[in-house]
Amino acid sequence: MVFADRRILLGVSGGIAAYKAAELARRLVSGGAKVKVVMTRSAQEFVTPLTFQVLTGEKVATTMFGPGSEPLEHVALGQEADAIVLAPATANLLGKMASGLGDDLLTTILLAANKPILVCPAMNCEMWANPAVQENAARLQDRGLTVLTPEAGELACGAVGYGRLPEVETILEALARLISPQDLAGRRILVTAGPTHEDLDPVRFLTNRSSGKQGYALAKVARRRGAQVYLISGPSNLPAPYGVERLMVRSAREMLDAVLARFSQTEALLMAAAVGDYHPTCCDEHKIKRGPVELTAHLTQNPDILRTLAPLKKKQVVVGFAAETRDLEAAARKKLQDKGLDLIVANEVNRVDSGFAVDTNEVTIIGKKKLLVHLPLLSKEEVADKVLDQVSALLPPVGKGKSA
Ligand code: CTP
Repeated sequence: MVFADRRILLGVSGGIAAYKAAELARRLVSGGAKVKVVMTRSAQEFVTPLTFQVLTGEKVATTMFGPGSEPLEHVALGQEADAIVLAPATANLLGKMASGLGDDLLTTILLAANKPILVCPAMNCEMWANPAVQENAARLQDRGLTVLTPEAGELACGAVGYGRLPEVETILEALARLISPQDLAGRRILVTAGPTHEDLDPVRFLTNRSSGKQGYALAKVARRRGAQVYLISGPSNLPAPYGVERLMVRSAREMLDAVLARFSQTEALLMAAAVGDYHPTCCDEHKIKRGPVELTAHLTQNPDILRTLAPLKKKQVVVGFAAETRDLEAAARKKLQDKGLDLIVANEVNRVDSGFAVDTNEVTIIGKKKLLVHLPLLSKEEVADKVLDQVSALLPPVGKGKSA
């Protein structure tokens, strides 16, 4: 788990979105993080320190002086943490940070901090659009802080525009990136995910049970580790992972075209999609009516995307996924060889806790030169990390071996 045993300092400043920081704190704690909260004076007008104290099990720091303050907290807190997240960050906080001011506990901690800082602004949309605020945000970004853009929508004041605190999921993912190794920085990785839909008529199609969860987890974790990720997804309800460019397709043939258009510009292809092997030979223009007792549909084989790419492969690391119901290892090895792959990730799909549509997976990673890694049942994000470890080991040094 990305936040397990990581120390996160959560700075809360005074805006109405302060109540959403409580959910952020809860999610971090449930992800295994040790969370220390620092609140400004005006933040306490919106939410009480007790809320955060109960959620984190830690005393909330609010002041540099007087009862309840600890000497030297203003230096220690920003240095003991693995990362700092400011949510919400008000226009006032951005201004003080940009100017290097330290007139309360939070801003003083930030001056002495030597850890990555994620800034999550939230304010009225006119305030966010104010050139002074924009300049301050840009200055912080230039100094190496990560500043998220507020989301658009209806604001607490009734106005509509850019000003909302980004979704907790987005904040968590941006923070996960700050505390993850950036071993895939500078890499371009192509991931496919989900099922395909092969149309029979305008309302019916052939598909499979893939949810896309393993492919989406690969895309998310590759991006978290610094890669530039392009995700080609079959039909799926999953949201696009933060920071990942996504293209939605329906059929195997559409997926092939999308992969072909990107393959030469990438250094690794992770083919996690469950591509349909056949499509109905003719797709009726109109809905097929209920007719005879037995109806025969003719199917035509789809192109095999990995086989089509094999002759085009230059230095790319190509990973296939084998969904099997029996003879797992032997079947996967055969696919590794037949499809000219560098790695294959094999899993049994006739289990309830592994494979299609669940959040966990038990896989075996097989490669050339006798590479064989049996993994226990893990979350799909943990599986993604293990697969990417193997991919990372096969990639040529950054800047070398890039294809045209
Ligand atoms: N694959 C592909 N093109 C297809 C079918 C599958 O590129 N038309 C890819 C999948 O994305 C996966 C790998 O091939 O990475 C293995 O997929 P799988 O369905 O297990 O293998 P098939 O070759 O379709 O073999 P079978 O269905 O006979 O087991």
